[in-house]
Amino acid sequence: MPRGVFITLEGLDGSGKTTQIRRLAAWLTRRGQEPVLLRQPGGTEIGDRIRELLLDSRSRSLDSMTEMALMFADRAQAIAEVIQPALNQGKIVVCDRFTDSTEAYQGGGRRLGSEVVLKLHRIICHDLQPDLTLLLLPSFESSLARARRRNDRMETETGRNENRFETEHDAFYRRVWEKYHEIADREPDRVVLIEGDLTIDEVHEQIVESVSERILSLAEKS
Ligand code: TYD
Repeated sequence: MPRGVFITLEGLDGSGKTTQIRRLAAWLTRRGQEPVLLRQPGGTEIGDRIRELLLDSRSRSLDSMTEMALMFADRAQAIAEVIQPALNQGKIVVCDRFTDSTEAYQGGGRRLGSEVVLKLHRIICHDLQPDLTLLLLPSFESSLARARRRNDRMETETGRNENRFETEHDAFYRRVWEKYHEIADREPDRVVLIEGDLTIDEVHEQIVESVSERILSLAEKS
C-alpha cells in the first residue's frame, strides 16, 4: 500500500504558520494533490475539547505534566482518527504543529526536557515521524510582538484570552526558541529551518521548494 506524505509546520506563536499553511494547501490543490489539513492541539472532536482545556487562560492551575499528557492525548486521537488513515490512503497530510511543539514548549519552555517527550512519542505515537518539518523562525522579537498583538485583539473582541501560552513571559519563549534550534540541528534531514524576517512570498517560495524537492518526488514515485 502506498504511504502518503506527512508534512508538519512548526514555529513560535506569531510566526505566520497559519498563512503559510493556507498558501501551501492552495498550491498543492492546484497540483491536484489536495492535502488533509489539521492543527494541534485539536483537529478531532475529542481533540477540540482537549484544546479548550489546554488553551483557556482559566486553566491556570494546569500542572506541566498534565499539560504534556493532554498534548499527547490529543495527538494520539488525531493519529488514530485522521493522520494514519489518510497516510494509509496515500494522501498528503499537513499538520499545524506536532511533537516538536511538545518538545519545544513543554520540554524547553516548561523545562521538562527532551527525553521524556521523545519517550512518550515513541510509546503514544508509535514514533510516527513527519517526512518533512518546516520550521518558521522569524526573529524572536517580531514573532513575540505579533503573538502579543493577536492576543490583545482576541481579548478585546471576545473578552477572553484564548491562548494561555501567549501570556507567558519572554524567558519562556526564549527557551522554546532555543529548543526549536536544537531540534533543527539534531535532525537536519527532516527539519527545514526557515529563518529571519522574510516576506510572506519569500517564505512561501522556500516552503514550495522544500516540498517539491523532498516530498513530491516521493509521492509521485509511489
Ligand atoms: P494556537 O492558537 O493553535 O497557536 P498557533 O497559531 O501559534 O499554533 O495555540 C497552540 C498553542 O499550544 C501554542 O501556544 C503552542 C502550544 N502547544 C504546546 O505548548 N505544546 C504542543 O504540543 C502543541 C501542539 C501546542
